[in-house]
Amino acid sequence: MNESVWEHAQDSEWKTHWQKLGDRAEELSFEVQQRFLKGMNLTLETDLQDKKIVDIGGGPVSLLLKFNTNNSVVVDPLPISEFYLNNYKSKNIIFIQQKAEEFIEKFDEEKFDEVWMYNCLQHVFDPNKILTKLNKIGKVLRICEPCDTPINKCHPYTFKQEFYETFCEEHGTDISFFNQKYDYPYFGASLTLKD
Ligand SMILES: C[S@@+](CC[C@H](N)C(=O)[O-])C[C@H]1O[C@@H](n2cnc3c(N)ncnc32)[C@H](O)[C@@H]1O
Repeated sequence: MNESVWEHAQDSEWKTHWQKLGDRAEELSFEVQQRFLKGMNLTLETDLQDKKIVDIGGGPVSLLLKFNTNNSVVVDPLPISEFYLNNYKSKNIIFIQQKAEEFIEKFDEEKFDEVWMYNCLQHVFDPNKILTKLNKIGKVLRICEPCDTPINKCHPYTFKQEFYETFCEEHGTDISFFNQKYDYPYFGASLTLKD
């Protein structure tokens, strides 16, 4: 994909979604985000107190806001407002405004305990580059993605459930699947990433 197609998709995502939700995005997104929680085998009661987590494509209202974690990080190229930056700061969440592809490429610190990715992959610039290198940044992956979403101005890509299953089987061990069906099938899994 070329850069301008991705930039156009980001611009469309901003205008048709986030800009409209304004400062109410956390409250208005949660109904749909509950699907992702379930798909990642999490409940609001899950204890993540000692976990250092990176949320890839977490946007302005990452599900990390619902937990107490240990210096967790959201990586997303979206230019989020001061309001959401302060929200993250108040929960000790670091927001890194960067594409995941670049973050992963440059990352040379101790791995995160967990990598989260939900409702993200159909938006990114280079999905394979991200998926195949997640093991560079984290030990455990929790993933939940809608499948078969139509390719449109916000979604440069679409993926099938089998695509995610193959990825998990090639790149993970101790895999648990948590698939769901709503308007689209939602692929969900947690797994240990192979080195
Ligand atoms: C539909 S939103 C979902 C946000 C969040 N995961 C949620 O469910 O609330 C998709 C997100 O993917 C982000 N994104 C797009 N390209 C990305 C990339 N290359 N690396 C990381 N995130 C990206 C967008 O900026 C956007 O915030």
